[in-house]
Amino acid sequence: MLEQFERYPLTFGPTPIEKLPRLSEALGGKVEIYAKREDCNSGLAMGGNKLRKLEYIIPDAIASGADTLVSIGGVQSNHTRMVAAAAAKIGMKCVVVQEKWVPHYDAVYDRVGNILMTRLMGADSRLVEDGFDIGIRQSWENAIQSVKDSGGVPYAIPAGASVHKYGALGYIGFAEEVAQQEEELGFKFDYIVVCVVTGSTQGGMIVGFAAQDRADRVIGIDASATVDQTRAQVRSIVDNTAELVGLGRTVRDDEIVINPDYAYPAYGVPSEETNEAIRLAARTEAMMTDPVYEGKSMQGMIDLTKKGFFPEGSKVLYAHLGGAPALNGYSYYYKDG
Ligand SMILES: Cc1ncc(COP(=O)(O)O)c(C=O)c1O
Repeated sequence: MLEQFERYPLTFGPTPIEKLPRLSEALGGKVEIYAKREDCNSGLAMGGNKLRKLEYIIPDAIASGADTLVSIGGVQSNHTRMVAAAAAKIGMKCVVVQEKWVPHYDAVYDRVGNILMTRLMGADSRLVEDGFDIGIRQSWENAIQSVKDSGGVPYAIPAGASVHKYGALGYIGFAEEVAQQEEELGFKFDYIVVCVVTGSTQGGMIVGFAAQDRADRVIGIDASATVDQTRAQVRSIVDNTAELVGLGRTVRDDEIVINPDYAYPAYGVPSEETNEAIRLAARTEAMMTDPVYEGKSMQGMIDLTKKGFFPEGSKVLYAHLGGAPALNGYSYYYKDG
């Protein structure tokens, strides 16, 4: 479905699928768990899901004649790190607004991990006080205006690169890639588990897997804790993207599956169960997940497996979307492991 769209390569290519036998065994051995390692997808500043999205956005940014990418996220945003990386790689300037999305007070929260790398790559990182919201923000509009005021040409990329015309294309590519890898593996996955917040990762997957008639097997685990807004955003991304790529039908509501049960206590704040999930993945498979996103989808996958949500014999593919750099901002939780 993607041939008609220009792609600027920022990733190594197809991401590996890794079997996770020790994690599967620790959860009772009745389902086989695999991970698709989107977290290992690139040499650009530790990679992650945003690069698949940006591969389809960067050609538009270059064609627009812009000289500055402008985006927005939280203080420990993976997305702004990836926008800064893409800007450095293509030789553009970068302005990123980092809002106080998370009520978290590690002393070095605004110095380490994602924001450290963002600054190292030369982005102008602007800390502002506004709280969490996945929508279009005034602080972002102000940053865009400030680039114009100083004679620059901005190219605006919304939070998570989600509410952008091309934001979900990359994860249609993910669905097509999984289908090819399944042919090589000789089996099909029964479920795909994915973290969802701003929506274009799961939204793209839904459109891609809808073309294979199995979008309802994509189990979104909400990490926003504002699930109604996330669900509405996924719905509109799915509709716009299905139209854009010519899916040829409307995606049904039952094909958009989002589980709200693991986002507590708040966006960016891990529960004790999230931290236990992070420890289990690390101790069984040396797979690092973070307290904001992947730790919550890991927690969801672990809990759903234990509850018997996946029938015995199922093959479950955990989409590991990256995010481990944020762990540095949460060191107090893990000082004893
Ligand atoms: C590591 C990680 N996982 C999951 C997500 C959620 O993806 P999306 O915002 O496309 O729903 C993000 C970004 O928001 C992320 O950085």
